[in-house]
Amino acid sequence: MDDTSLAVQAETDTADDFLPINGTDYIEFYVGNALQSAYFYRAAFGFNITAYSGLETGSRDRTSYLLTQGKVRFVLTSALAPESPIADHVKAHGDGVRDIAFWVDDAEAAFDNTVERGATPVHRPERIEDEHGHITRASIRTYGDTIHTFVDRHNYSGLFMPGFEATDRIDFPSEPVGLEYVDHCVGNVDLGDMNKYVKFYADVMGFRQLVSFDDKDISTEYTALMSKVMANGNERIKFPINEPAQGKKKSQIEEYLDFYRGAGVQHIAIATNDILHTVSLLRQRGIQFLSVPGSYYDVLLERVGEIDEDVSMLAELGVLVDRDDEGYLLQIFTKPVQDRPTVFYEIIQRKGARSFGKGNFKALFEAIEREQARRGTL
Ligand code: FE2
Repeated sequence: MDDTSLAVQAETDTADDFLPINGTDYIEFYVGNALQSAYFYRAAFGFNITAYSGLETGSRDRTSYLLTQGKVRFVLTSALAPESPIADHVKAHGDGVRDIAFWVDDAEAAFDNTVERGATPVHRPERIEDEHGHITRASIRTYGDTIHTFVDRHNYSGLFMPGFEATDRIDFPSEPVGLEYVDHCVGNVDLGDMNKYVKFYADVMGFRQLVSFDDKDISTEYTALMSKVMANGNERIKFPINEPAQGKKKSQIEEYLDFYRGAGVQHIAIATNDILHTVSLLRQRGIQFLSVPGSYYDVLLERVGEIDEDVSMLAELGVLVDRDDEGYLLQIFTKPVQDRPTVFYEIIQRKGARSFGKGNFKALFEAIEREQARRGTL
């Protein structure tokens, strides 16, 4: 599909969309030590540290760093006092995602429309301003302690938001690795809750279901899970939602729920235009990935047909491939990026395919089980 047909399709889809979303605005993590996490994301993932908010900029209760690369915006936030709700979040969940924020044209309307349809309000619409203009934002709750903030920034020309300023607090050289935009964010929810959140995204946010996987699609000898993928009208927001399914041993979703102490974001998939380049750099900088057996590559071309990439390069880097009716995709998954076995990243390059790599599920979940066995959590 070329860009024109995508644009036409997006226009048709959003014509009667009560919640038009332009894209992911930012993803905010609550972490134990934002300064040190920012250093990690800069050194390993090549993010630029674009802005800072903290005591020096007038914030009394928290420190936040804005990290950017391509269109990806991450905010890393930590508490400056033990009685802060940020500290409570970190105590319960470890480092994790608090907020998946949406870039909208009218945050107040987005809040009113979703709350009217049953969303639980977290922050009522507020306007914050500085010498660069103003933004309006408002938040609602989703699974676990995770929230969605609607951000309207069309009257703002500053770096990010009022309260954030440029910083040289972390003056360490780093080169980007080619991360372009957030492709999808996956949530893990408790057993029996998947359909509740599918209904939430459909009824409250006007999303539709793209695809569904059951335990027959996603099972190994030992464990299983079920998943449904929800997307907004223009498909810039895609949320697979997983729940554990009955298996002989403890599934990766149960492991996550145990260590995260409830539902939350499991992985964030970030798109690149050159996965071989991106993964080579990430490996050089010490990022560890899940690996599949060499036999995966022996039968790869039989399974996916002709591809542009050299199979030996893919095997050397551990990059996986899958094909659907529209094309193919390349993907790879990191190991968890904090002490608890919870949040991890997917790096994805799409060459026509709009799906999620179903053909790789089995090999991948067996790789996760090998890691779980090492952790004693299988
Ligand atoms: Fe994914």
